[in-house]
Amino acid sequence: MRVHVALSPSEFADAPVSGRTVLAVDVLRATSAAVAACEAGCRRVVPVPDEAAAEALRDGDGVVLAGERGGHPIPGFDLGNSPDEFTRARVEGRTVVLTTTNGTAAMMRAATGAAAGLAALTNVTAAAGWAREQGRDVTILCAGDNGAFSLEDAVCAGLLVARLAEATPAAELSEGAEAARALGRHYAGHLPRLAADSLWARRLAHQAREVDLAACLRQDVSVTVPVFAAGGFSVARPERAGLAAGAPVRDRAGSGA
Ligand code: MLT
Repeated sequence: MRVHVALSPSEFADAPVSGRTVLAVDVLRATSAAVAACEAGCRRVVPVPDEAAAEALRDGDGVVLAGERGGHPIPGFDLGNSPDEFTRARVEGRTVVLTTTNGTAAMMRAATGAAAGLAALTNVTAAAGWAREQGRDVTILCAGDNGAFSLEDAVCAGLLVARLAEATPAAELSEGAEAARALGRHYAGHLPRLAADSLWARRLAHQAREVDLAACLRQDVSVTVPVFAAGGFSVARPERAGLAAGAPVRDRAGSGA
């Protein structure tokens, strides 16, 4: 198995995707929100590029429009991009149409792979397990920040790489994957530090979104892996995600990798 990490969207065009299993990562906050939406029982999460594309999919009570621009909810949409907004009451049984500044572009790019899933810190071990079970080379796409690198996505990618390499010691890591793994090791056990070290985290804090930071910077609180099929991401159950039934899932905010 070969593992590659595209550390920023500027690397997406050259990142190997065809024939691979691809994971999209946007810790703050799009993939964390998508995991929360699937955990809350939404039918699927459909990423779209912009507000017009989202509005075109509006379809009564069965569809929820969600997203942000610059961190702020989009006027007229049903939900923003805070994981806590994706409650059962709001999304269960419904299609969530999501458009965000960076995350949905990474999701749409991932969807061109042979298999595509969504990873965040909240489901990092389950996402790595699912990716490994697909039996292909793996590419991880970091959504970044307006085309540039973002620390929290690289750390999450590094934790994914670490889990893949632990499970498959012969895995060949690209330089991007090695760099991400080193960052993952640095922050393992210290994820709440990202609230201070990440530029986007500091911007979200200025928008009084500390609750979102706390929700997104937790590790392995979910075994839900949103997986792409038929135009949207929906739940791959734990047994399909390569986790033993009954595997412990607990709030490990700030605990070890
Ligand atoms: C993005 O896609 O850029 C992010 O999810 C922004 C955010 O909502 O924090």
